[in-house]
Amino acid sequence: MQISFYNPTRLVFGKGKLKELGSYAKEYGKKALIVYGGGSIKKNGVFDSAVASLKDAGIEFVECGGIEPNPKIDSVRRGIELVRSNNCDLIIAIGGGSAMDASKVIGAGALYDGDPWNMIFHGQDNVYIPTACMPIITVPTLAATGSEMNPGAVISNSETKEKSFVQTDALFPKVALVDPTLTLSVPKNQTGYGVCDIIVHLTESYFNGVDGTPIQDEFALTTIKNCMKYGLRAYKDGADLEAREQVQWSSILALNGFVNCGTNGAFPVHMIEHTVSGIYDITHAAGLAIINPAWMRFTITHGGNLDKFVSFSSYLFDVKSDGDKVKTALAGVDKYEAFLKEIGCPIRFSELSIDDSKFAEIADTTLKVIHDENGNLPARPALSKADIVAILNSAK
Ligand code: NZQ
Ligand code: ZN
Repeated sequence: MQISFYNPTRLVFGKGKLKELGSYAKEYGKKALIVYGGGSIKKNGVFDSAVASLKDAGIEFVECGGIEPNPKIDSVRRGIELVRSNNCDLIIAIGGGSAMDASKVIGAGALYDGDPWNMIFHGQDNVYIPTACMPIITVPTLAATGSEMNPGAVISNSETKEKSFVQTDALFPKVALVDPTLTLSVPKNQTGYGVCDIIVHLTESYFNGVDGTPIQDEFALTTIKNCMKYGLRAYKDGADLEAREQVQWSSILALNGFVNCGTNGAFPVHMIEHTVSGIYDITHAAGLAIINPAWMRFTITHGGNLDKFVSFSSYLFDVKSDGDKVKTALAGVDKYEAFLKEIGCPIRFSELSIDDSKFAEIADTTLKVIHDENGNLPARPALSKADIVAILNSAK
């Protein structure tokens, strides 16, 4: 095992923690840009509580609302302008992954003379990898992406229909202030999507990682098991705070680098999905719910790590093995897919009115963003263009 683990974000987690926003904010600045989405935080009182805490601490603020799901680079550019014209010295993101991701690229973009789209990997020759960022405090209102405590951001370009990422240490938030009561108002569909996203973050590194990581493997499976248990409860009863709390804890664990450290697993399903949602502007986890089971079935029959699939099936879905590993593995995927349906996720492209006309383009664009020395998508095993198209076709 080779491990290099770094996560400097302070995690503050618990019911009522939003009240402490001001006291953390004043450690980092005097005037904040508050980055938020389409307005849910104004309807449910979160914005008012946050502002009351900031006022108590003497922090001024400027608003940057209207960050759309699949945040667009134009919104990032607008945020950078607001930082500069108002001399903000701190960013507070209150929302889902979209607001948090936008805040990271705003924070780095404000310290960079070039265009922020240069930071997003989209196959360009000269990627600008930011080395500095304004201080950021994340206040997640949705359990899904783990963006609150990781250094990644995913941004879309509506002109070119591209969607891709930047991930680098400078983008770690200073503080993740996680108050699970903020997720009580998340609607049913977004609750289910969030659970799906969390699970896929864990399956990507579990299935694509190296061998010889038994602790990380069991940690991943346990986190998935609890996310499924409490995720179903939160989906059925949005007011179930214990369930909301556990789902939010699993979202943090799934993508803050700790559960999977040393596994070195690629994220092929995410890479393909980002291309799909770049073109069709669909919800990230709706795309994952369609592609992940299809990728699993393909991988099981094309040289994937069957032992890990068998453990996935037996530990999470109680599939009894009769010695036929492929059969056991595929039975687990069927049950996993049934779970995704139960939490309201689509499982075929046709449910989103997406046909096969752009499947080849999706494969090409994905490989343009990321490929190994043979031109294939990093995964276990690596995927060629034909493989990606076959996976997409199997999920029509
Ligand atoms: O915009 P508002 O009005 O706030 O409504 C949002 C939005 O419509 C709503 N919502 C959020 N919290 C709510 C709420 N509604 C009621 N009550 C609340 N408490 O939920 C909708 C979706 O929000 P969004 O932020 O788009 O969702 P999510 O957190 O799933 O973020 C998705 C984005 O993150 C990227 C995705 O690709 C996508 O662009 N990802 C970021 C990652 C990262 N930074 O590490 C990793 C992920 O794999 C993912 O790619
Ligand atoms: Zn994801």
